[in-house]
Amino acid sequence: MKFFIDTANIDEIKKGVDMGMVDGVTTNPSLIARENKPFEEILKEICTVVDGPVSAEVVSLEAEAMVKEAKVLAALSDKIVIKIPMIMEGMKAVKHLTAIGIKTNVTLVFSAAQALLAAKAGATFVSPFVGRLDDIGQHGMELINEIMTVYRNYDYLSEVIVASIRNPLHVMDAAMIGADIATIPLKVIEQLAQHPLTSIGVEQFLTDWEKRTK
Ligand code: G3P
Repeated sequence: MKFFIDTANIDEIKKGVDMGMVDGVTTNPSLIARENKPFEEILKEICTVVDGPVSAEVVSLEAEAMVKEAKVLAALSDKIVIKIPMIMEGMKAVKHLTAIGIKTNVTLVFSAAQALLAAKAGATFVSPFVGRLDDIGQHGMELINEIMTVYRNYDYLSEVIVASIRNPLHVMDAAMIGADIATIPLKVIEQLAQHPLTSIGVEQFLTDWEKRTK
């Protein structure tokens, strides 16, 4: 399973890379806005520290304008993947970008029907948002099951990025289903390593070690 880190913060990304847990990065306009730096500067910096795809989102809502934005972003680095919202104009843009060899990540996916359209358009990645579905009382993880079934039925090559992850259970449920990628906040990556019995065990071993015959 690949882990992407869901942040535009360079310090968080460096920490994740140091842990050896970062196979790529996803950003979105809200994450970029938190950084108080120009968009392109942030993306270039991220691309210098990460080996792997770096998703950068367009903000236009019409296909032609999305493609124009995408070309500028894609020219920054061959790691850049263009994040496109799951709207019909977005699907037109994905089709065009795929044809000219620019990778895409279709975002804001909340149904298997949307994921089917994204795969048909040729999306490299598709991002269903599990946490936001849970927030409105729907089972986010059921959506991942449905999408994986549809993609397997037709051998679609689009990779599923489980997004809007809020806790370690989201990651493990996605892993049990066999989702290709989870994009995870740094805090949740760190939580994945934690277990109270591990902490107790480490402490006990050190205490016993001090009592050994010297
Ligand atoms: O990058 C998209 C996604 O992961 C957003 O997560 O927590 O804002 O729903 P969240």
